[in-house]
Amino acid sequence: MSGINYSEKIPNNVNLVNDRTLQRALEHWQPHFLDWWKNMGPSDFQAADVYLRTAISVDAQGWAHYGTVKMPDYRWGIFLADPVADRKIGFGDQMGQPAWQQVPGEYRSTLRRLIVTQGDTEPASVEQQRLLGHTCPSLYDLRNLFQINVEEGRHLWAMVYLLHAYFGRDGREEAEELLARHSGDADKPRILTTFNEPISDWLSFYCFTYFTDRDGKYQLKSLAESAFDPLSRTCRFMLTEEAHHMFVGETGIGRVVKRTLEVMKELGTDDPARVRAAGAVDLPTLQKYLNFWCSSSLDLFGSEISSNSAANFAHGLKGRPDESQYEDHVLREKTMALLTPEGEQQVPMLNALNEVMRESYLKDCEIGLKRWNRQIERAGFPFRLTLPSSRFRRSIGAWAGQPVDPQGKMLSKEEYEKRLPDWIPSEADRTFVHSLQQKVVAPGKMAAWIAPPERGINNLPVEYEYVKLH
Ligand SMILES: [Fe+2]
Ligand SMILES: [Fe+2]
Repeated sequence: MSGINYSEKIPNNVNLVNDRTLQRALEHWQPHFLDWWKNMGPSDFQAADVYLRTAISVDAQGWAHYGTVKMPDYRWGIFLADPVADRKIGFGDQMGQPAWQQVPGEYRSTLRRLIVTQGDTEPASVEQQRLLGHTCPSLYDLRNLFQINVEEGRHLWAMVYLLHAYFGRDGREEAEELLARHSGDADKPRILTTFNEPISDWLSFYCFTYFTDRDGKYQLKSLAESAFDPLSRTCRFMLTEEAHHMFVGETGIGRVVKRTLEVMKELGTDDPARVRAAGAVDLPTLQKYLNFWCSSSLDLFGSEISSNSAANFAHGLKGRPDESQYEDHVLREKTMALLTPEGEQQVPMLNALNEVMRESYLKDCEIGLKRWNRQIERAGFPFRLTLPSSRFRRSIGAWAGQPVDPQGKMLSKEEYEKRLPDWIPSEADRTFVHSLQQKVVAPGKMAAWIAPPERGINNLPVEYEYVKLH
């Protein structure tokens, strides 16, 4: 049932062989994807042998099959979670009716837009990370970077499949455009701002995988609720892969904290200048990176008050993450109190769903913070890492452009401008973090600014040669 056919050009569990037109269209797109991967994917490591996991089926036994492959030979394909028999729409005005196996005409352009926006983020992140391999802190980390990259490539395939299979000619055009836009490109940038921010150091990479991949998790969870069943099944399977990306972020930041605390103890001081001189990331600088990537990722949820989110929910296109945990799935009667710069407003709940999602996202973000702060507390230092207020440094929504500090307090424009370099990485901070980035590729060795992981991949030792460079 859930096995994936690897004998086909495009591995899949959607019986592609029985749909010749679709198969031909996707086989036409495939070389374009590979060209994109070679030109815009990880630079200079295409010949390396990488210890990667590949899905061979979508069930618990088969989705994580490990082996050594060169990245261009990775078997990207189309894998949907198994269908739920007689699945019904779980929310919105059509709740209880059968889920859709085809796209209803009236929602066609909205659904296409949702799929394209999600799809655009996947190759964007690969582009953002393409140079990181040159400064990897260890082979273990290099392998994790490449694992994430190939899976984001597969997530692009997942969205391209939907576009080709269900949206006809405009879908095919959109699939080409997904390879034509590029992260940070002046003329054809990626759709969402966060995915145009360069990621040129590993501290940013860990923050990105912690905060931005977690936004991905929330988007996928809400699309997994969709009445459009193929989208739901596609996103459900993507979520199993996504967990590893956030793991890399959470453990990456945890290892930075661990190493910094070791240095602080050795020196007997928390003086940032001395911690830096000893080659570790001081905690105030780490806090700035958290502020930067958290606030940037919060924008991805959209405006606090949104008629689009209301329509998407009411029509059954996009639910709330873990919709079943709520009691009311229609939300026509409820309101929510929202704080805006003009004061508190009562807003119909349907229009406040971006904020509902943002709040549950922030709660999820707290989990890592608690863990890192326990490490700091155990080491005997009073410093605590925090998440910035969801009003801080916003570019979208009610708080866009407002001079608010990381605690959420409104300031004068002048004071805000003056103090911003205390809250997000300044040029000098970035220069310092860049100065730490040096390629370490001896098996088991780590860069001096990060502690080794507690364990290796798939029960292998940390010293395993996860990437064989030639
Ligand atoms: Fe993804
Ligand atoms: Fe991801």
